Amino acid sequence: MKSFILDRNLAQLALLQRIELADDKLKKLRKLLGRYMFSKIFSKYLIDIKKISENYSIIMNKEFNTIKKFTIGKKKFLSIGAGIGGLELLILNSTSDAHMSFIEKNYISNKIRYGWDNLNKEGYNDLTQLDNFLKKNKISEERYQIFDFDKKNFPINYFDTILSIYSLDYHYDFQIYAKYLKKIMKKESTLIFDTIRPNYFQNIFENVEIIKEDINTVHQSKRIACTTFK
Ligand SMILES: C[S@@+](CC[C@H](N)C(=O)[O-])C[C@H]1O[C@@H](n2cnc3c(N)ncnc32)[C@H](O)[C@@H]1O
Repeated sequence: MKSFILDRNLAQLALLQRIELADDKLKKLRKLLGRYMFSKIFSKYLIDIKKISENYSIIMNKEFNTIKKFTIGKKKFLSIGAGIGGLELLILNSTSDAHMSFIEKNYISNKIRYGWDNLNKEGYNDLTQLDNFLKKNKISEERYQIFDFDKKNFPINYFDTILSIYSLDYHYDFQIYAKYLKKIMKKESTLIFDTIRPNYFQNIFENVEIIKEDINTVHQSKRIACTTFK
């Protein structure tokens, strides 16, 4: 397996988006000196870029395996909260004529707080870096489009597969996107996301399939694939 190409800025973002990439030394410093110092300084300067790149690539390859069957033969993808886009890069590399749209925040919180975020105030991304990651890893510009969540001009075209890995209903309420998703999802579209309340979505969608269960990990959630709004 080839590792992704990351520079320091990208490795820092990957770490902020995937706290399981932090080693014990970093976790201790975060506890001792606080979230601000961690988010701004340690996550950038006290990291081994090569190691983060290797481990981030391993994690993303595992994620890819969980959703692979929803990518085969598909061309139109939307990712909500992709982070720097490792999983999305693997999808684009696996299907030569696939296109990916991204909706993300262009904002990094000063003191990143993980977990449920009722007001959806937290953001851990920089859209210039998302673009930089795709370019560095040889994805041509016409294969993707990036939309800033706060500008609200979301894409309204058809998507085969809509992904939101550890973002929608994991960090913030499904309701934030419910109307939009209802508008764009067609009978053939599949929406995949992580949640701790899969049963709730039985009332919203005709079909809800659990495709991954996290039990003994930091995530403690289920990944579901949903089709057809009721
Ligand atoms: C825990 S990270 C997961 C990133 C990536 N999907 C992964 O699996 O590594 C959550 C991501 O959701 C993004 N996010 C937060 N609120 C969002 C919103 N309303 N719309 C889109 N993305 C959002 C954050 O900026 C962050 O990149």
